[in-house]
Amino acid sequence: MAASSSRAVLCAALLFFTLLGYQSSAEIVNLEVKEGNSTCIKAEFSAQISVVYSVTNGTKTVSMSLPATASVSNDSSCGGSGGAPRLVATFGEGHSLSLGFTSNGSQYRVDNVTVVYNLNDSATFPESTSADRVTVTTAPAGIVAGINTTYRCESASTVTLGGGGVNVSFSSVRMEAYMPGSEFSVNETVCTADRAASTTPVPKTSAATTAPAPTVPGNPEQGKYNITNNGSICLLAHMAVQLNITVSPSQNKTVQEIVNLQPTLTKSTGSCEPSSATLVLTDDRTNLSFSFSLLAVVWSDAGVMFRLPEAFTASNGSLDYLRGTLGRSYVCSAEQILPVVRSFSLNVFRVHVQPFGVSGDQFETAEECQLDEDNMLIPIIVGAALAGLVLIVLIAYLIGRKRSHAGYQTI
Ligand SMILES: *[C@@H]1O[C@H](CO)[C@@H](O)[C@H](O)[C@H]1NC(C)=O
Ligand SMILES: *[C@@H]1O[C@H](CO)[C@@H](O)[C@H](O)[C@H]1NC(C)=O
Ligand SMILES: *[C@@H]1O[C@H](CO)[C@@H](O)[C@H](O)[C@H]1NC(C)=O
Ligand SMILES: *[C@@H]1O[C@H](CO)[C@@H](O)[C@H](O)[C@H]1NC(C)=O
Ligand SMILES: *[C@@H]1O[C@H](CO)[C@@H](O)[C@H](O)[C@H]1NC(C)=O
Ligand SMILES: *[C@@H]1O[C@H](CO)[C@@H](O)[C@H](O)[C@H]1NC(C)=O
Ligand SMILES: *[C@@H]1O[C@H](CO)[C@@H](O)[C@H](O)[C@H]1NC(C)=O
Ligand SMILES: *[C@@H]1O[C@H](CO)[C@@H](O)[C@H](O)[C@H]1NC(C)=O
Ligand SMILES: *[C@@H]1O[C@H](CO)[C@@H](O)[C@H](O)[C@H]1NC(C)=O
Repeated sequence: MAASSSRAVLCAALLFFTLLGYQSSAEIVNLEVKEGNSTCIKAEFSAQISVVYSVTNGTKTVSMSLPATASVSNDSSCGGSGGAPRLVATFGEGHSLSLGFTSNGSQYRVDNVTVVYNLNDSATFPESTSADRVTVTTAPAGIVAGINTTYRCESASTVTLGGGGVNVSFSSVRMEAYMPGSEFSVNETVCTADRAASTTPVPKTSAATTAPAPTVPGNPEQGKYNITNNGSICLLAHMAVQLNITVSPSQNKTVQEIVNLQPTLTKSTGSCEPSSATLVLTDDRTNLSFSFSLLAVVWSDAGVMFRLPEAFTASNGSLDYLRGTLGRSYVCSAEQILPVVRSFSLNVFRVHVQPFGVSGDQFETAEECQLDEDNMLIPIIVGAALAGLVLIVLIAYLIGRKRSHAGYQTI
């Protein structure tokens, strides 16, 4: 076992990426809750729901978007009979997304977001080990607006439910509860992210309407991420990540964006299983997920294929990057370009990762990547060349001295 495990190789596959800033390709869903003939909640938004679930040999992540066909269920309520107003949208094979509202008279807010997903839906959750309907819920989602105003938020914002297994990302939101009439109020409460975006010169959202010139930020900062399993760290990842996305919001337009993940704004979640590990890096626009798998045989090709859920998500299940040996950590200081799909690649810098066999919160012995070794080679060659030169000069000097010495003696 010891001999074979030292040959075991870990293989990193980057599986799934969502760029949440682009609304152009996401569906906007219209929902309305009525009691009698008066409307109390009206909502227009797009929502992307990602779920991590268990399969026999690890976990998988799926991303589903709330479809335009989602319907308002009878569980929705205007809160007439004492309960809180509630919007429940059902979709697919027994899934739902609900928003519960509260108000204090001058403001209203989304008090909780609840997702019910049905693992028995094998088209959405292939190979799930469970067939349960799972309910996850979250505390207030940061959606707050004044009474008699429409909440508006074009920017994407993500809420995490159920301890990290489920993320819901809302974008292009127009929403009102406790409505005075049956139409959206003219006055609006604009979310902080939109207000920030409109005052910064760099356009962040609605790629379709902005100039295609990519603004290239500087080198990304190194983030130090870790995943904990049962109280102890099981995955360590220190790295600087830059995303390179090429999107075509319309047939004629191509927009390229270079985005740095900012460690202070990036949250890490994930899981550790005996033969697979997942690291999910999330900020308000992106949801980047790395899957590492442990290969028993060196040349086996990890072929976990994922569905491609939406136009603005990209995933590739057959990547093979950051390959290291079990019991070691992988180090690469040089920039590496990791193409995922044609329209999306990752530039990573200053990488130090260990997805398996972390003990005592410390990296094991580092194993340098080929690129770094090649970079090391240049100074070695230069050094060797210099040493060679010195040697030649020395030999030449010694020979010259011996000759002149010999010549002197013959006289
Ligand atoms: C709407 O509600 C009012 C009372 O609130 C009622 O008089 C009216 O008939 C209702 N209209 C319809 C179309 O149900
Ligand atoms: C996990 O199991 C499925 C089938 O059960 C298989 O297709 C897939 O390759 C396995 N993945 C890994 C990483 O072993
Ligand atoms: C959601 O919030 C509403 C209003 O506070 C509350 O009545 C409801 O019980 C909450 N639902 C869950 C699942 O926490
Ligand atoms: C309602 O809640 C908001 C914050 O949640 C607070 O700023 C506001 O003062 C509250 N208004 C009243 C009347 O309590
Ligand atoms: C909201 O509008 C309704 C109807 O126009 C009005 O009765 C109510 O006082 C308004 N509430 C606030 C807090 O402005
Ligand atoms: C967590 O660790 C404790 C003590 O180390 C152990 O008793 C328990 O079974 C572990 N739980 C899981 C889910 O691994
Ligand atoms: C981004 O990707 C495009 C095409 O894949 C490439 O031409 C460009 O050099 C990349 N830019 C950076 C900063 O990596
Ligand atoms: C694309 O460009 C062609 C000609 O340059 C123009 O006729 C067409 O309307 C454009 N389509 C879109 C969607 O902008
Ligand atoms: C996934 O990655 C592999 C290896 O880099 C590449 O050959 C393949 O074309 C990619 N798949 C897609 C759909 O781009």
